[in-house]
Amino acid sequence: MIVLTGSTGGIGRAALQTLLSEKLVPVSELRISAYNTAAIPTAVRETGIEIRKGNLYEPSTLVESYSGAEVLFLVSFPSMGEERYKLHRNAIDAAKAAGVRHIIYTSLSFCGGAEGNTSVAQVAQAHLLTERYLKDSGMTYTILRMASYSHLWNNYAGFLKLDAAPDVVQEAVLPNDGLEHWANRAELGEATARVIANWQNYINRTLNFTGPELLTGVDIIKKYMKHTGRKVNVRVLPVEEAIAWHVKNGSVPPEQASFLENWASWHTAISLGEKAFLDPTLEQLLGRKPKTIDDQAADIFSASHGLDTKDLVELGLILGGTPQTTFCDLLGSSEHIVGALHEYSQRPVFRSRNPSLRSRDELYQRKLRDMLVSNALPKLCDKTFKVFVERVFPFEQIVQAHQLLESGSSKGKIIMKIE
Ligand SMILES: NC(=O)c1ccc[n+]([C@@H]2O[C@H](COP(=O)([O-])OP(=O)(O)OC[C@H]3O[C@@H](n4cnc5c(N)ncnc54)[C@H](OP(=O)(O)O)[C@@H]3O)[C@@H](O)[C@H]2O)c1
Repeated sequence: MIVLTGSTGGIGRAALQTLLSEKLVPVSELRISAYNTAAIPTAVRETGIEIRKGNLYEPSTLVESYSGAEVLFLVSFPSMGEERYKLHRNAIDAAKAAGVRHIIYTSLSFCGGAEGNTSVAQVAQAHLLTERYLKDSGMTYTILRMASYSHLWNNYAGFLKLDAAPDVVQEAVLPNDGLEHWANRAELGEATARVIANWQNYINRTLNFTGPELLTGVDIIKKYMKHTGRKVNVRVLPVEEAIAWHVKNGSVPPEQASFLENWASWHTAISLGEKAFLDPTLEQLLGRKPKTIDDQAADIFSASHGLDTKDLVELGLILGGTPQTTFCDLLGSSEHIVGALHEYSQRPVFRSRNPSLRSRDELYQRKLRDMLVSNALPKLCDKTFKVFVERVFPFEQIVQAHQLLESGSSKGKIIMKIE
């Protein structure tokens, strides 16, 4: 039995889809452990796959959802905070207690290659601690060090406003620059499935999944200019100056300015060559060349490309009254809402594909609530924002409500009335 986590997220969903569609492992040998079991789509449920509740914050649920399994596919917790390592330990401890023998863990491709074990990138620290903890656990392991997702390029290339007027010359300010081996998230998930299915071939190994080319931040901005015809002035400044510029520019909300240090440390890491290598493993597992940035240009350079809410949440760019604000999580994420919000705010509004705020830690949710109260509530009260309601159902029609939700055809919020 193989337990899969993160199946509602980007990597885990792609891995699950590949496992199921290519029948790499019999469904009877797979189990999903999910924080929010209701988010598992009907099509997945209908395969008959076992689903158990497993919340990284509640170790007892983890033991229960991993019990009887031989292998755990552990997707790292989606946050940049320190709690991540604690939650990973919860999972590793629970796996051990439940009798799991092998863990496949999603890490990041810093450190200059598979042999490296140190990084200056803040985001890598919890991963490296987790890798160490896993290696010391007594269980066997496979560590998958993933390249940075290509759809997130803009977060590392100066937070450009992708839907700025075509004639605006944009400013991109980077703190250091260096080579990165960007990869497509769906392809990373697909390759992950092949490792999961053949885990015995990867015992106690660390694999790097990299894309097919090495590009600096400046290179990617050049490609953005080439594909969109837009103009960008790029400056690579010393870290302190670049951070100060982004604080002044409002690239992130003032209270999240500390995130910029984290962001800058990623740039410092690539400037030191921590990601300046290509590895053939992804291509071998896919059986084809992984997508280049040019292959993905239409998706990743357009103003309306649907950034995953969770990526925005992780990068602290949500609901802060900044140029990169999204209210979609609360108000719905259809084109209708996105268009209305854009018209109202004259700001980029990203479509949210997979809202998951419920799974964030309490501190984050509290902060978000406070930001909502100060930023969004007044606009809801004076009706400059309207929540678009698709349909109201009585509680007895919960099945129909779910069917409408899962059909993907609704434009607004679906309300259940509990009298
Ligand atoms: N390589 C990169 O460039 C890169 C970039 C960004 C992030 N990452 C990290 O790589 C990992 C995988 O990426 P991804 O894109 O698949 O992330 P993702 O889309 O955010 O998925 C994360 C998964 O974790 C689940 N989860 C959240 N809270 C949980 C909890 N308390 N207990 C159990 N499960 C929980 C989520 O469930 P719900 O759907 O119910 O919330 C979701 O299935 C994440 O750690 C992410 O932060 C990598």
